[in-house]
Amino acid sequence: MSDPVDPRAVEAGLDGPVAGPVVWATEVGSTNDLVAMRARAGAAEGLVIGADFQTAGRGRRGRVWEADPGASVLFSVLLRPRRSGKEIGLLPIAAAVGVADGLARIGVTTELVWPNDITVDGRKLGGILCELASTSGELSWAVIGIGINVARSPDVEAPRWRPTSVSEIRGTPCPRQDVLTSVLAGVSEWYARWDAGDDHAIATAFAARDALVGRVVRIATGDHVVTGRADGLGPGGVLRLRTSDGSVIELGSGEVTGVDPHDE
Ligand code: BTN
Repeated sequence: MSDPVDPRAVEAGLDGPVAGPVVWATEVGSTNDLVAMRARAGAAEGLVIGADFQTAGRGRRGRVWEADPGASVLFSVLLRPRRSGKEIGLLPIAAAVGVADGLARIGVTTELVWPNDITVDGRKLGGILCELASTSGELSWAVIGIGINVARSPDVEAPRWRPTSVSEIRGTPCPRQDVLTSVLAGVSEWYARWDAGDDHAIATAFAARDALVGRVVRIATGDHVVTGRADGLGPGGVLRLRTSDGSVIELGSGEVTGVDPHDE
């Protein structure tokens, strides 16, 4: 591998709740599945499993997550949230803010598309897949799976967003290990804030990078699509949409399927 990741060196740069251990593999099915398996077996918070390549990488809403071998960082983090299951809405938002913060530390300024797409000038740099398990209504663990294109973006047919990569944005190659270490530091810091109940800081940080606010967007939610002008986040990380009749609706889950290009 021309751009190797040394898990020991990554561990040495970690601090806070995401403290490792870091396990790095050449090829796996999905890092989310491996971390979930370890979570069920009782692994402690902070475990990170990453890979050079995934044969069954998963995206949101059942999509495949594609990445060429060694061209991305593909990893998942195990969290054992102490907050109530009812307060989970902001966790994916905090994770997105953490990724954006980590990327900013290596000179890559990103925007966030609710709930947690990482974009630069409307092109997708990375994505986050959060998977949760609860027992009797209380969260027992969360897996935060993160994929970021580093050396190059994959050749995806008809992508939702045209992809980009860290190297393309910086105009120079960037070691995957640096991207991973920095992003893990960002996720650790913002997870700690979420855990401490600092929702205001998370909402403010998201708003500063919100790519949708003020724009007319289409959102797929459940089995239907709603259109409206994005009006920022509401409590618990819901997306506020102002519809054509002036009413405001709040969406707890969904995915942006379109942003009006004439609505700058
Ligand atoms: C999305 O934007 O649809 C979310 C993509 C998440 C991809 C990452 S790559 C590491 C982890 N393992 C997976 O199978 N998926 C996530």
